[in-house]
Amino acid sequence: MKTLISPSLLSADFTNLKADIEMINRSEADWLHMDVMDGVFVPNISFGFPVINAVSKICKKPLDVHLMIVQPERYVEQTAKCGAMMMCVHYEACTHLHRTVQEIHAKGMKAGVALNPSTPICLLEDIIQDVDMVLLMSVNPGFGGQKFIENVLQKVARLRHMIELSGSKALIEVDGGVQNETAPKLINAGADVLVSGSYIFRSANPIQTIHELKNL
Ligand code: DX5
Ligand code: ZN
Repeated sequence: MKTLISPSLLSADFTNLKADIEMINRSEADWLHMDVMDGVFVPNISFGFPVINAVSKICKKPLDVHLMIVQPERYVEQTAKCGAMMMCVHYEACTHLHRTVQEIHAKGMKAGVALNPSTPICLLEDIIQDVDMVLLMSVNPGFGGQKFIENVLQKVARLRHMIELSGSKALIEVDGGVQNETAPKLINAGADVLVSGSYIFRSANPIQTIHELKNL
């Protein structure tokens, strides 16, 4: 399977979101990654459901919603109403992750679970069969443009092994510091989906940059 590319809206031009969504529509991007931050789970606040809802009306790519918020189970219904394809919640923010995954599925979305850089993958042993995706953070969540944490490469490889042993169909997504040097290493390690924000949106030709990431 070719690697899926999910550009992160966090690095888009918020004064002209429409132009950036239309660029994404024309590009080879597979999904659109949307980072919701609450200023509690992470030290930053990004955007919320009114923005996701507006974007969903013009975006032709499936929405890959990454909730960096405490108690994300409060927002399953609202995320579904925005037309999200994927709802990804943090392991560290969910007390009853199994229940939340069931609720996400019941609302017709795919369920993802995200791990901070310091959270070990062994904690997923009893949920890996139930999730559609595991998002490994390769920076500490909260901001775009941070330096890639190399340790995630062996984490991807170990997670790939765990997924194969368990018979799970979960995709592995990596988020943070993905660019032309880190992307090939992640693909080699076994990543299925690459999120990339600043590298794509700050490049001179984002459509070409997406094409290059897609065809590594
Ligand atoms: C960080 C977010 C990322 C962010 C990635 O907390 O989850 O999705 O947009 O940005 P880059 O690709 O610039 O590291
Ligand atoms: Zn993200």
